[in-house]
Amino acid sequence: MERLTDVPPTKAYLRAPQRQGLRIGLVPTMGALHDGHLSLVRVAAERADVVVASVFVNPTQFGPDEDLDRYPRDLDGDAEKLARAGCHALFAPAAAAMYPDGFQTTVSVGLVTQGLEGAARPGHFDGVNTVVLKLLSIVAPDVAVFGEKDYQQLVSLRTMARDLALDVEIVGAPLVRDPDGLAMSSRNVYLTPGSRARALSLSRGLRAAEAAYQAGERDAAALLDIVHTSIEAAGIEAEYLELRRSSDLRPLYRADEPAVILAVVRVGDTRLLDNVILDRS
Ligand code: PAF
Repeated sequence: MERLTDVPPTKAYLRAPQRQGLRIGLVPTMGALHDGHLSLVRVAAERADVVVASVFVNPTQFGPDEDLDRYPRDLDGDAEKLARAGCHALFAPAAAAMYPDGFQTTVSVGLVTQGLEGAARPGHFDGVNTVVLKLLSIVAPDVAVFGEKDYQQLVSLRTMARDLALDVEIVGAPLVRDPDGLAMSSRNVYLTPGSRARALSLSRGLRAAEAAYQAGERDAAALLDIVHTSIEAAGIEAEYLELRRSSDLRPLYRADEPAVILAVVRVGDTRLLDNVILDRS
């Protein structure tokens, strides 16, 4: 697997396959890779001939009180996992390569970034959209794959790609869970065994809400109540827990159209995101 750190050599490396008409797939990540990320690599490999993963802990998407400094980092371990997963190249730039002196451009997406994570983390999506647009510009992939776990991020990136007529297909890959049901996340390493056990009440609640939906329940309050009851029994409160239209995140009172339940809970110092897509049609 080719390891690349600077922008011009990365563009040069990709020029040959691009000229041959090979399809390029990009999997942007912030590293500390788990099986969820590796599933994104597999989705990219199904849709492209050359798979490039990026590892970059993007400072501009972290708020001043967030975990930028302690965010888990293991570039050599990540490189090994990516190579084993069949990735062809790893782009792992230094901050100066992504944000050289004088950098002053920000990409802001509107409505779909307001509320939910956008409300809890001001500026977060500007940071995500800007860095992803830059990665797309460097790699010029045909397809870029993102996890459905960060559902609002996925909708924001799809909106950006559509609004700016980007020549890339944004693909969402299903959320991957540990065998106990916890949504995989690089931040799960922060959980103690006790807090992990409490955190499981969220995935259990979401599963129960999904079962109620499948049994015919459509009322948002009733579906969300199921999740609230599960997490409250574990002594956890939701930072947000909402039913939204899956295409554009419009709030819904009833799940009569394709919908997603989006949730964030805080367990100790750790914020955990999870969601369930109720209808993929
Ligand atoms: O989902 C992530 O890991 C990040 O937000 C992304 C898309 C790699 C941008 O830094």
